[in-house]
Formats: sequence, C-alpha cells, structure tokens
Amino acid sequence: MNLEALLSARLAPALAEVARAAVDPAVRRSRHADFQSGAVLSLAGRLGRSPRDVAREVAGRSDLAGLAQVEVSGPGFLNLTVADELIASAVNALAADARLGVPPAAQPRTVVVDYSAPNIAKELTVGHLRSMVIGDSLARTLAWLGHDVVRANHVGDWGTAFGMLIEHLLDSHSTGAPQLGDLTGFYQAARAKFDADEEFRSRSRLRVVRLQAGDERTLRLWRAYVAESRRYLLAAYERLGVTLTEADFAGESTYNDALPAVVDELVAKGLLIESDGALCAFPAGFTGRDGEPLPLIVRKSDGGFGYAATDLAALRHRVRVLGATRLLYVVGAPQRTHFEMVYAVAAAAGWLPDGVTAEHVAFGSILGADGKMFRTRSGDSVKLAELLDEAVVRASSLGTCPEVAAAVGVGAVKYADLAGDRRNDYVFDWDRMLALTGNTGPYLQYAYARICSVLERAGDPAGAVTICHPAERALALELLAFEPVVRSVGETLEPHRLAGYLYGLASLFSGFYENCPVLKAPDDVRASRLALCVLTGRTLRQGLDLLGMAAPTSL
Ligand code: ARG
Repeated sequence: MNLEALLSARLAPALAEVARAAVDPAVRRSRHADFQSGAVLSLAGRLGRSPRDVAREVAGRSDLAGLAQVEVSGPGFLNLTVADELIASAVNALAADARLGVPPAAQPRTVVVDYSAPNIAKELTVGHLRSMVIGDSLARTLAWLGHDVVRANHVGDWGTAFGMLIEHLLDSHSTGAPQLGDLTGFYQAARAKFDADEEFRSRSRLRVVRLQAGDERTLRLWRAYVAESRRYLLAAYERLGVTLTEADFAGESTYNDALPAVVDELVAKGLLIESDGALCAFPAGFTGRDGEPLPLIVRKSDGGFGYAATDLAALRHRVRVLGATRLLYVVGAPQRTHFEMVYAVAAAAGWLPDGVTAEHVAFGSILGADGKMFRTRSGDSVKLAELLDEAVVRASSLGTCPEVAAAVGVGAVKYADLAGDRRNDYVFDWDRMLALTGNTGPYLQYAYARICSVLERAGDPAGAVTICHPAERALALELLAFEPVVRSVGETLEPHRLAGYLYGLASLFSGFYENCPVLKAPDDVRASRLALCVLTGRTLRQGLDLLGMAAPTSL
C-alpha cells in the first residue's frame, strides 16, 4: 500500500470541491510531518483567496478518519501525520509483497540503454567507469520496474585506426589467433610505428581501404581483433558486476550497411547540404562560437561515414526495428551537443515520432585531489583494472575474506560513482569511499550484513509489525518510501536518489537497532521487530542490486 497514493485519494475530493476542478494533491514525504501536500499553494492563487484559508477549508472537508491528522502549516501547507495502525498495516502488506510495494509499470516501454561503449582499441581506464556504472544501474532499475530493456553496447569497433592495428597484428603474429594482452600497449606500439615508419603508414592506409571494401582476409583479421576485445570487455564487466553480455554488443560496425540508406533518406528529406565536399545537416538552433550554423557531418568529403552517421543509423534502427519508445545514451557531458544535434536531425527526419523520447544521460568527470582530471602521478590515465585491484587490496585491510574484499572494494568504487548527482564532477577519494560510516558502499553493505547476522541469531520467524516506539515508526515509514524512490529513478534517471534513500534507511535502522532490543524483547515485540529487520534487509538487498552492488551476508 502506497501511503502517498492513499492520502492523495482522500484529499482529492475536498480539493476538487474547493477548486471546482481536479487538483493533484501532490502528497510527499516531509521533514515537518510524515507527509505534506502543497497543492493548496498554487490553487489559492488561482482562486484569489488566502492559501491558509483554502488549506483550512480543504482540511475541514477531508475525510481522513482513522488514517491521519491534518494540520495547516506555514503559508498553507497541509501537514499529515499518519496513524500508527495505518503504518503497521501498510508495512505488513509490504512484507507480504515480493516486490516490496513496487508494482511493475502499468505501461511498459521498450527502453534502449546505450552504455559502456568504449572504443575497443584501447584498454579500459577510469574514464570508462561512469558510463558502465550509471548505465548498468539504470538498466537494472528500468528492467525491475517492468520495462523492456535493451542494453546496447555501441562499442567503437570501426574506423581508420583499425588499418594500423591490423597491420601491426600481421607484423606481430603471422599465424594463429591474436593475443592482444595489453590493449593499450598494443595500440601504442601500432601508433608509434605509424608515426615513425612511412612504409607502415601506407600499408595501414591501404588496409583501411581493404577493410571498407569488405576484403575477406582483412575482415577476418578485424573480426579476430574484435573478438579478442570482446573477451577482454566481458571479463571486465564480470568483475565489475555490469550486466552487459555478449548479446548486447552492437558496435558501430553493425550499422555499416545501413549508412548509405540513412544518407539517402536524409537527402530525400532535404536535410543535408553539401559543404566543402562533405554532406552535413545544419539543425536549427546550433551555432558555433563564431555564430555560424554548426554542421553535423554525416558523410565526410572522402566519402567515409563518421560518428554522427552511425548514431543516426543506430537511432533509426532502435526505433524502427527494436521498437524502442525511450532511448537513453549514458555518455559523458562533453558529448551533449553531439547528441542534441543527432536528436534534432532524427526528429526532422521523422525517426522520433510522438511518444518516442531520446535522452542524453550525461555525467561529469572523476577528478583527482587536485581538482583536475584523475590521473596517475606520472600523468597517465588510470587503468581500470589497477584501480579495482587497489580497491580490493584496501578493502582487504578491513579484515575480510577475498570474495568479500572484492565485493566491498568494487562496491565502494561503484557506490562513490552513484552517490552524487551524476551531472556533477566528483573527487576520487579512497579514504572517503571505503569509510565504514557515512554515505558509502561499505556502510550499506555492513548494515545489510548486520541484519543478516541478527536474523541468523534469532532463528525464529518474523511476525506482524506493530508500532510501539518512535524509532520503529520512523523505520517503517522509510520502508514504505521505497516505491516512490525507485519510480523516480526510473523517471529522472538519477540513481543517487536511490543511494541517498538506502543511506537514510540504513541510518534509521541503526537508530532502531540501538533503541529497540530485538532478540531480548518479549515474544510478540520480538516477532514484530524481526519483521522490521527482515523487511529492511530485503529493501537494502534489492536497492543495492539495483545499484549493481553485491550484498555479502557477512563482512
Ligand atoms: N565510443 C564512444 C566514445 O568512446 C561512446 C559511444 C557512446 N554511444 C553512442 N551511441 N554514441 O566516446
């Protein structure tokens, strides 16, 4: 039972009578009472009456018998204090619900979540972390909300760099499957040769031409390179607990065959203009620094297609073929203009019909202590594998077994990435993310493990919840707030709302556990308190899972 909905339903008739029209009661959790409605504030303006007056009238007309007390506060808020019995019965309904009060979406959408998507020629670095972590949390959450989620790993597996990589592959391994080992090293070696060696350079260029022309031997080498990169990426996803699988790879090369048709369609719709030999779209409202219209280059002057063309083809495919009605692109903030232009051109082409939305789920950067991009001492980018190794080593110093250290170390890194508003940059800080107190991954995992241990020691089943202590009441109310939070993450695509909620829940659980003995309580109280422990544990575990974090049962 969703208390917001229940209270809204009770306030709605009174509001409608006073307003002579339907009014959204907008009941929300509040610091000033259990719940609050601010509906009267805007309504009073429209009616030309004093808000407090209107609030008093609505309060007087509302039938909240047995449910809650209503009080007018401040400029005209309705403060609602819920009866303990209502909280208890709502929590008991929650306990009986396998989905913790979160119903599957009434109108499921097909949501494509485009995330991770590294350029495969390079090793993963800390710069790849955020798309994986944020994207995966959103994919998990939307799927759990009942949407049809299509994970799309739009890896950069095409482009001129592959000419040089394939030539280098040929030079280093004339026979057998390539062992790329250290991808960055491989890329750097190829690059160094490309820069230094004229003969290698021309071979590489020729190789690009052969690749684009579909030469079989070249394609075979390219495929081997791509396959090796996939194995590498899948191992990284596995270690990070990212749910991307083999089936989710849909790299740039996937769209090669569609590119000419995409261009033809855009030309036919009059959306492309030739500019310096290139075919460009100039969507309205985009101008460069000089005030000149900004081009989105769809076909380059050499006839090749670039990043934007591929994104247009992918978008068209996702809507037309996959039937997506919501497109998410979990990509760093610097690509904002790129996506806005792609959406504008796609909309003009009719590829984003009514009811289909495209959203750039942008995120900020990870910074070092100096406030600049997070790098190693020597100024290189931090390799993701090394970062995670260090996280696990640091987590082991908390004195746990290797599996738990991995869960805590990796979890701490992921949680630090999710706990703040994704749009903001954040400073990477080992001590803070691994602290056992405060809004951290370890704190939440610890809270969960503690609950597991209480339940194990108890051994007996939970009973019905009755509220007899303020700490129980506060905890129960927070348990009931899981549903609106998860729903809001699905809408706003802001996992930090869930992180903040779980932190609040774990803190309230602490308060409850300190104030309300569980195992030593008389039988009926004990059964009620155990029920609160069970429900808190389930909510934490589900919430951590939606964030993509492991929840070990003991630390
Ligand atoms: N490979 C791109 C990069 O590393 C990110 C791709 C994001 N997804 C997309 N559909 N453009 O910047």
